[in-house]
Amino acid sequence: MSQWSQGRIAPHGGTLVNRLLQADPREYAHFPALELSERSYADLELIATGVYSPLEGFLGEADYKSVVEHMRLASGLPWSIPITLSVAEAEAPRYRSTVRLTRKGETVGLLEVAEQYRPDKQKEALEVYRTADPAHPGVAAILSQGEVNLAGRVSLFRLDRGEFPEHHYTPLETRRIFQERGWKTVVAFQTRNPIHRAHEYLHKVALEHIDGLFLNPLVGATKADDVPAQVRMEAYRVLLARYYPKERVLLGVYPAAMRYAGPREAILHAISRKNYGCTHFIVGRDHAGVGSYYGTYDAQEIFGAFAPGEIGIHILKFEHTFYCKTCGSIVSARTCPHDGAHHLILSGTRVRELLRSGASLPPEFTRPEVAEVLRAAYRDEAVRSA
Ligand code: ADX
Repeated sequence: MSQWSQGRIAPHGGTLVNRLLQADPREYAHFPALELSERSYADLELIATGVYSPLEGFLGEADYKSVVEHMRLASGLPWSIPITLSVAEAEAPRYRSTVRLTRKGETVGLLEVAEQYRPDKQKEALEVYRTADPAHPGVAAILSQGEVNLAGRVSLFRLDRGEFPEHHYTPLETRRIFQERGWKTVVAFQTRNPIHRAHEYLHKVALEHIDGLFLNPLVGATKADDVPAQVRMEAYRVLLARYYPKERVLLGVYPAAMRYAGPREAILHAISRKNYGCTHFIVGRDHAGVGSYYGTYDAQEIFGAFAPGEIGIHILKFEHTFYCKTCGSIVSARTCPHDGAHHLILSGTRVRELLRSGASLPPEFTRPEVAEVLRAAYRDEAVRSA
């Protein structure tokens, strides 16, 4: 019986990676320790739980170069963003074999160093982010990291379900849940922004023909002015309770850090959701973009670089959608005959301005329950920083 006929989608590369190690971290106390950044810890977890299948560790040089230049691992399998771990040059000699990975001083995992190499940061930025501008948050992260990459297989001692334990699933768990719920098709939705009505529209259009929705907000590190995950999750909870069919939605966090790599990140996001067991993935306007580095539909077009089936998850592409006062609904240029004077389009910057000024967001843009969660969060923030 194929994995499709079981209602399951094959993981990327065929096997769901599991690098969780049942062992006592104290046994490894004598190995040199390497303190992980928030982003590297997230990568460790995503590798160890299989979200990044088929990766079993941080990329070696052949894979790194192949991913940067060709969007493929050395094996030829599509992979769009190098998942690497770097250290300062002076530190590198300490890390030749087994390394103890720590988080806030606590041992959380192991790295079996198989290789060390120097990444070409400039090239990585230009190829992966399409810019070497240090103002781009993803590029800034590359520029500030160490000069030497450590590569090799990793293990994680214990899964920390973080701030949202009741919404924190591994791919094994989501696959089981989808099966238990009898969902043959599952559409995943990536987001890092507070939910608004255009998001809801995309979800509901998808749910018209797909069995289940996996709402998968990114809760790892984001840039400072993005709305905190706590607030976004609260907004999801109030919205789901009131406006979504409970039995057709699963809210689960995506514990990755945001890289803002636009098109390249859309591919990584799609592959990760395939590994969670989803059959479809939504890519709308300027997916995972920041500023004006990427064209509105670049993140959709990039999927054309791969042969049908290579990514292995159906991409549901959506036009830019917004509220039309005359239509009285969310529309896009494909469905609405009216011009811009009829449309309500709020940029992320404008939304933040409104919130900071204490204003409520218009109901055409955000459901009142969500607007209230955001307003309260910004009010508390203003009180805290006063
Ligand atoms: S992202 O960085 O996670 O992509 P965001 O949370 O804003 O940012 O978007 C989540 C998903 O919804 C992405 O696929 C994005 O392209 C899509 N999207 C967001 N707003 C709109 C919109 N108004 N019209 C169409 N697609 C949208």
